[in-house]
Amino acid sequence: MDLNKKVISLCKRRGFIFPSSEIYEGIGGVYDFGPLGVELKNNIKEAWRQEMILKHDNIVGLDASILMNPRVWQASGHLSAGFADELLECKKCRKRFKADEIKENKCPECGGKLAEPKKFNLMMKTFIGPVENKASITYLRPETCQGIYINFLNVLNSMRLKLPFGMAQIGKSFRNEINPKNFIFRTREFEQMEMQWFCNPKDADKYFDYWKEERIRWYERLGIKKENLRAVEIPEKDRAHYAKRQVDIEYHFSFGWGEIEGIHNRGDWDLKNHSQHSGKDLTYTEEDGSKYHPYIIETSVGVGRSLFAFLNEAYQEVKGGRTTTTKSIKETEVVLKFPKSLAPVKVLVLPLVKNKPEITKKAKEIYQMLKSSFMCQYDEVASIGKRYRRGDEIGVLYAVTIDFDTLNDNSVTLRDRDTMKQERIKIKDLISILKTKINV
Ligand code: GAP
Repeated sequence: MDLNKKVISLCKRRGFIFPSSEIYEGIGGVYDFGPLGVELKNNIKEAWRQEMILKHDNIVGLDASILMNPRVWQASGHLSAGFADELLECKKCRKRFKADEIKENKCPECGGKLAEPKKFNLMMKTFIGPVENKASITYLRPETCQGIYINFLNVLNSMRLKLPFGMAQIGKSFRNEINPKNFIFRTREFEQMEMQWFCNPKDADKYFDYWKEERIRWYERLGIKKENLRAVEIPEKDRAHYAKRQVDIEYHFSFGWGEIEGIHNRGDWDLKNHSQHSGKDLTYTEEDGSKYHPYIIETSVGVGRSLFAFLNEAYQEVKGGRTTTTKSIKETEVVLKFPKSLAPVKVLVLPLVKNKPEITKKAKEIYQMLKSSFMCQYDEVASIGKRYRRGDEIGVLYAVTIDFDTLNDNSVTLRDRDTMKQERIKIKDLISILKTKINV
């Protein structure tokens, strides 16, 4: 089985990600995040929020709505040809493809002839209010950042900000993708983490390079190896309709290189267009009285796409197993080596045996004690070796084992996922030791 299939299968089996509406045969390009997927996703979002808002000066948060006045999309250019893919349909099997993914003029599925390309707008349409007519049409946003631009004045004035400053937001976006593919890589509903850096036009190039480097370092700090990341300068003909300059940060997935984040110099495209369409003055006034539309440097990352990259990076197989003391050495073991901040479960609590009530009672007490400080799981089913491996497979950082000695010495065994080293720890010190190790 190739790596992609293994990761996808693990995601389903261990509660990370499920295809949406599975009992009704699914729905194309939509996925649900299970209990572990939610934790992982929240950890990624929190790591991004900390990086952008807490670490950097002058970046504030926002949570704008998914639904906006449809005039927003007129102004942003999303209702015109700029936000459309070219669609090719096979005359034989009727499958549809994005034109830029087709090398020859033949269907990659059945070899059939392809029809002439058609433009296909990616906006998801809906109606607002009880009457379904032209006047009630609106759209699910295809990018979160327009909510930031239309709140530019609100935030500038209410927070008394001065250029340069940033606005950051995390939220859902929707695109009617022709060809969703590669699991959660390209979906029709997804989340984005976007930061818009408003600056004086003369500083835009400098900040573009700054943010590009900052964003690459963020992935590296979260454990992505340098060789699995690259920054690709996008030529003018392939850039998004709003971008003066665009660099895609790509990750080396098992199916090839794929964009996980876009860094864009959007110039004054957005604020100028919104000024024109709304009639509101969205310029910035300098202390000397000069006015201009700030330039925007955007960093835009998909939560699901980056999560998929983090999953791929963390996935490790050890042929023959890591344990040398038990029979398990013959099996292939899987370890998800997530960095500490991203691991969805931090601590696994294990009674050595499940048929001794004194031990399970103590283990449950310890689980209760730990669970308000760390994301924990309690597991008493199967041999201790199997349970350790089950924890490794979902990337649990530490396992706490309660054994017969615990009842006398009030200590437990703490096992480290990566080194598999075990140490004896007093129960009274457990929380503070784990806090130091996990750094939470
Ligand atoms: N506001 C700019 C913007 O939306 P984009 O390059 O179209 O730029 C940014 O998207 C990021 O959003 C991508 O790098 C990717 O991580 C994520 N993304 C875009 N379309 C997606 C899709 N259909 N499925 C999953 N993630 C997607």
